[in-house]
Amino acid sequence: MNILVTGGAGYIGSHTLIELYKAGHTAVVVDNLSNSNPVSLQRVAEIIGIPEIPFCKVDIRDREGLEKVFAAQKFDACIHFAGLKAVGESVEKPWEYYENNIGGTLILVDMMRKNGCKNIIFSSSATVYGDPAEIPITENCPKGQCTNPYGWTKSMLEQVLMDIQKADPAWNVVLLRYFNPVGAHQSGRIGENPNGIPNNLMPYITQVAVGKRKELGVFGNDYPTPDGTGVRDFIHVVDLAAAHVAALKCFTQAIRQSSNQTFVYNVGTGHGYSVLDMVKAFIRVNGVDVPYSIKPRRAGDIATCYCNPDKAAAELGWKAQYGIDDMVRDSWRWQSQNPDGYPEN
Ligand code: NAD
Ligand code: UFG
Repeated sequence: MNILVTGGAGYIGSHTLIELYKAGHTAVVVDNLSNSNPVSLQRVAEIIGIPEIPFCKVDIRDREGLEKVFAAQKFDACIHFAGLKAVGESVEKPWEYYENNIGGTLILVDMMRKNGCKNIIFSSSATVYGDPAEIPITENCPKGQCTNPYGWTKSMLEQVLMDIQKADPAWNVVLLRYFNPVGAHQSGRIGENPNGIPNNLMPYITQVAVGKRKELGVFGNDYPTPDGTGVRDFIHVVDLAAAHVAALKCFTQAIRQSSNQTFVYNVGTGHGYSVLDMVKAFIRVNGVDVPYSIKPRRAGDIATCYCNPDKAAAELGWKAQYGIDDMVRDSWRWQSQNPDGYPEN
């Protein structure tokens, strides 16, 4: 298939491009580079062994820009990663988050339907479950109250896409609810490259390990979990990338049930690891120290979040292959080989 990949220069998008090409697909990336560096695409091309990844520096809120992209070629599907994703920043700048994520997706979807492309895979998040009503979380778990505008953009966009699909059954909508992506491609050439102080655990750990930050703050050790620290379903980004390729099946195979034509899948491993499990695995596998101290709980955090990934296994034939040791090893390979992230282009 020929796939439009919005946000393809970013962390998950760049890894997904590799899996798409490996599976025989082709892609065109649309990204405004607001949170990424085009060097990631050069490196993806090197890894795949092609001269370049077709790339259009276009904002998904720019109708004319998108029109040119659609006029130049035909797409079988869109994998839609583009969006702002910093939880804390979304609390400070809710308008910017709603405008970029919701406004941008509405324009993208409009341009897709006008150009006859009605297959979309949307990057959703475990955050839509709020404080989950059940653990492990299945797709039947009710959606919950999000604790920040970023989470609400995901929850609302799921509803928007489901409603669009219901009104026009020619649409095929796949909602992938990612759990906690970590790790990097085994080459060490691409990885997560956050701007400023990392919000997420793994990039914080790797920046401490490489000497850019003094110590990791562990946010709370009094949760009702085995060691008191938060438990998450960390998933290797290469596994997550492969889930997108598997999800393309929804567009070619009749696995849909007539009553529900929006496909919703949890994308996680089904294992919960605590913050301290991750820190200890990182130290053990990589032989580098990660000084840490216990800090108060972070507002909005939940104690435990991991999924039951059986639906994706049964319907998509997808299952995570990598374990915690692979995740911490590959995160470190990327960070230690690229201490300052991607070079300026
Ligand atoms: P990322 O920031 O690395 O990638 C997102 C990309 O979208 C960036 O390259 C950015 O420049 C681009 N972008 C943002 N707004 C745009 C716009 N208006 N027009 C064009 N491009 C735009 O983030 P990521 O970690 O790769 O996440 C990809 C998607 O997955 C996002 O939608 C994110 O919300 C979602 N997600 C991420 C996580 C996570 O922990 N990383 C978890 C759940 C869901
Ligand atoms: N943590 C620390 N110290 C840090 C950073 C995080 O102790 O410096 C802890 C958190 O308190 C939490 C765990 O590590 O217990 C994971 O935190 P992250 O910030 O890495 O991830 P979250 O689970 O909070 O959220 C992430 C993404 C969201 C997404 C969600 C899906 O940031 O966008 O996963 O589960 F919605």
